[in-house]
Amino acid sequence: MKIIEVKNYQEMSLAAAQYIINMLKNTSKLTLGLATGGTPQGVYQHLIEDYKKNGTSYAQVTSFNLDEYIGLSKDDPNSYYRYMYENLFKHINISLQQINIPSGMNTNLQSECEEYENKIHQHGGIDLQLLGIGSNGHIGFNEPGTSFQSKTHVVGLTQSTREANARYFTSIEEVPTQAITMGIQSIYKSKEILLLASGKAKQDAMVKLLNGDVTESFPASILKQHPNATIIADEEALFGVKDVSLFR
Ligand code: F6R
Repeated sequence: MKIIEVKNYQEMSLAAAQYIINMLKNTSKLTLGLATGGTPQGVYQHLIEDYKKNGTSYAQVTSFNLDEYIGLSKDDPNSYYRYMYENLFKHINISLQQINIPSGMNTNLQSECEEYENKIHQHGGIDLQLLGIGSNGHIGFNEPGTSFQSKTHVVGLTQSTREANARYFTSIEEVPTQAITMGIQSIYKSKEILLLASGKAKQDAMVKLLNGDVTESFPASILKQHPNATIIADEEALFGVKDVSLFR
């Protein structure tokens, strides 16, 4: 696992966007794994600016998102589908046929999960998976204790995750209690992983990730065994991490 240390959120966003743009330029077909939340918003803004300015094309990109809330329709202002549409997809030349986000409205959630997992395989797997990290080490909605062998599955959301996400809803009661998420194994199988972390809120997570053990009680820790994982993190997020230089 390699760390690229940057000054702040703006630099993290720019560095991650450049990383993705380089891949787009060097590959004819690209399967991108995408995340929602506060962390990647700046990255998406840079991708949009670059698309407008330089015309970097997404015509050959297929995307798979990490997760979606159960019970929210695509149009719901808080669905991850809507987030992706507003924050990225509507601004670039990606056709809606090429984007994949689990449906939290499928009445058969089990088959939704299986089909999602199969679809990723049929596309030859994910080339680059973009990740944020929860303060408890979650990746996707894989909360502490989730098996490292897990595939796309339904999860109950912990109180801490619901509280963290309540900022987007009018009240915490409105935050769904369940979601569909790619599993840890589904994420780990990506050929390349880019995890982003910015700010004080991610300090504990970075210390546990980088200085702690690989354990299912801290889901992101498995990424330390991934052959091609990079973290782009800012100074504030890395404050307190011992031996950052070992990861450079
Ligand atoms: C988002 C996701 C989550 C977030 C994590 C961090 O699709 O799967 O794991 O990456 O909760 O969220 P932010 O970026 O809002 O701090």
